[in-house]
Amino acid sequence: MNYKLSAFSTQLGKGKKHRIMSQNKTKIILLNIVFLAFCGGLFLFLWNAPEEKTAFIPHDDNHERFFAMGKKEAEKFCESCHNPEGEVPLPKDHPPEYRCLFCHKRAK
Ligand code: HEC
Ligand code: HEC
Repeated sequence: MNYKLSAFSTQLGKGKKHRIMSQNKTKIILLNIVFLAFCGGLFLFLWNAPEEKTAFIPHDDNHERFFAMGKKEAEKFCESCHNPEGEVPLPKDHPPEYRCLFCHKRAK
């Protein structure tokens, strides 16, 4: 009698465990889908960011030397001309300006 009962209860235990496992699996799969959707959204957001329309650094006497420099190094010079009292102040509605070359690409 004991044998049958314990066989029954391990059977029961297994079933329960199995159900919990597959619930966890479903949860993990759902979380993965949420995560992927989030990444996709973020990717599209960055892909569509204003960057594309943003003016490129022109190839001219003022900017030519920056094409050969590291970005961080080049950015130290921007403000000597592009400052509120300088030659070419930034437009009034200019976005935050810390890293010029993130937005104003040198390619092209
Ligand atoms: C020696 C002065 C000088 C420095 C230094 C300088 N610029 Fe300029 N920049 C100008 C002048 C003058 C213009 C406007 C005339 C032109 O398009 O060349 C200009 C125009 C621009 C434009 C607009 C181009 C367009 O198509 O309308 C961008 C963007 C720009 N600069 C970014 C930068 C960045 C980023 C840096 C630093 C890496 C930088 N500049 C450093 C003088 C300078
Ligand atoms: C967050 C992105 C971003 C950063 C960082 C940034 N800019 Fe801009 N900048 C823009 C956008 C967007 C515009 C307006 C659209 C355009 O004309 O490119 C603009 C416009 C300009 C213009 C006028 C362009 C024109 O055609 O009249 C200049 C000059 C300029 N930025 C220089 C700079 C400099 C110098 C820095 C660093 C101190 C800088 N930007 C950092 C996004 C940025």
